[in-house]
Amino acid sequence: MSNTLKVGLIGCGNVVNYGHRPALTTLPDVELVALADITPARRAIGADWFNLDDGQLYADYRDLLAIDEIEAVVIAVPQKFRPPIVLDAFAAGKHVLSEKPISNVPAVADQLARAAAEADLKMAMVHNYHFLPEYRQIKQLLAAGAIGDIRVATLHFLGVIDYPGAAEYQADWRHTMAAGGGVLMDMIHAVYLAEWLVGAEAQQVMAFVDAPEYAQRGPVIEDLALLQVAFPSAYAVIHMGWGEGVGGADISGSEGQIRMRYKQYQSGGFNQPIELYSIDSDWQRTDHAIANLEEHLDNTARSFIELWADFRDAIRHDREPIAPAAAGARALQIVLGAYASAVTGRVVSLPLDEASPVYRKGIDGMVDLKAWAESKTKAAGLFGLRE
Ligand SMILES: NC(=O)c1ccc[n+]([C@@H]2O[C@H](COP(=O)([O-])OP(=O)(O)OC[C@H]3O[C@@H](n4cnc5c(N)ncnc54)[C@H](O)[C@@H]3O)[C@@H](O)[C@H]2O)c1
Repeated sequence: MSNTLKVGLIGCGNVVNYGHRPALTTLPDVELVALADITPARRAIGADWFNLDDGQLYADYRDLLAIDEIEAVVIAVPQKFRPPIVLDAFAAGKHVLSEKPISNVPAVADQLARAAAEADLKMAMVHNYHFLPEYRQIKQLLAAGAIGDIRVATLHFLGVIDYPGAAEYQADWRHTMAAGGGVLMDMIHAVYLAEWLVGAEAQQVMAFVDAPEYAQRGPVIEDLALLQVAFPSAYAVIHMGWGEGVGGADISGSEGQIRMRYKQYQSGGFNQPIELYSIDSDWQRTDHAIANLEEHLDNTARSFIELWADFRDAIRHDREPIAPAAAGARALQIVLGAYASAVTGRVVSLPLDEASPVYRKGIDGMVDLKAWAESKTKAAGLFGLRE
């Protein structure tokens, strides 16, 4: 039997172009053999990118899942539509690489993780920022004890670019609450990075969530989220916003600090990291050249190539991928816990109570919470809350 991993792609939008496409066209032992997309124009674009013929293109993903030689699928449709496709993939015996966030609903995320385990199949999340050179190097510095024990990880993502979805499909889906859009839900990367850097699972979250940029333009969707996350012996501060604002990372440890900045102070994922240094407990500064640094789009492409290599090897060696379904489920709970905190004005314990409306319904459960009268989130009319 050939060792090549034959894969199918479901959903051929923008993230495929700059992420999955470089991986699927360069990685050894991985071959894309079929593509499904509901939009004819996107199927045609995908056929061109991957050199596929008509017989390899499908309008209905279920026809792709019926192909025997396919061992694994990557599912890159918007999150609202992804969970039933993931469950169908497991029922068809396929391993799954899922785009983030895992789902909009924590109960559904847990259901997906259980379904993977019961089917004895891998479910890996596209948490590709683990492979961006700047965060990988920060992780290595922490592991080497460069600043002692991590105390507070501050991740600035206030200059997130609000890219629309594919024009041939529905460009504005991120701006619809029903599709689960909004800056923090879309840019869940900062949340899993915080957990990864701290090296522990989050216990509590508190947040402000607002819509200053989009409130005037509508439809109203969250575009600013300021979070504080508690871990057993450290904290993370995450600032995330669409629009203009500072990006980078500041990490405080028991014996020093790490600072990382992007070109023009922009945010991670959208620009070139240009500065990484640590300060030790004697206030001595050490500058670190960021290893494997290329142009920003090449860094992104490479992060997907390495992520795909990890997924391939997880299947071949029957081990967990770097970000299994459980990591996706935890990241989603931090995001929804932050939303719940912003609505109620209270700190939210993690993991979420399985009886809570937020666990069972995600954003749709926010209207069932006792909203704080002065909540900025409520005043903005987010999550279906009205004054
Ligand atoms: N990992 C990352 O850095 C990253 C970056 C961007 C987007 N994403 C995630 O990837 C997903 C897609 O985002 P995007 O920006 O590529 O969106 P997009 O709008 O560009 O593409 C979505 C594609 O899915 C197709 N589609 C929708 N429903 C479908 C169905 N039922 N069956 C088959 N195809 C279907 C559409 O026709 C379209 O081609 C989202 O979940 C998003 O959060 C991840």
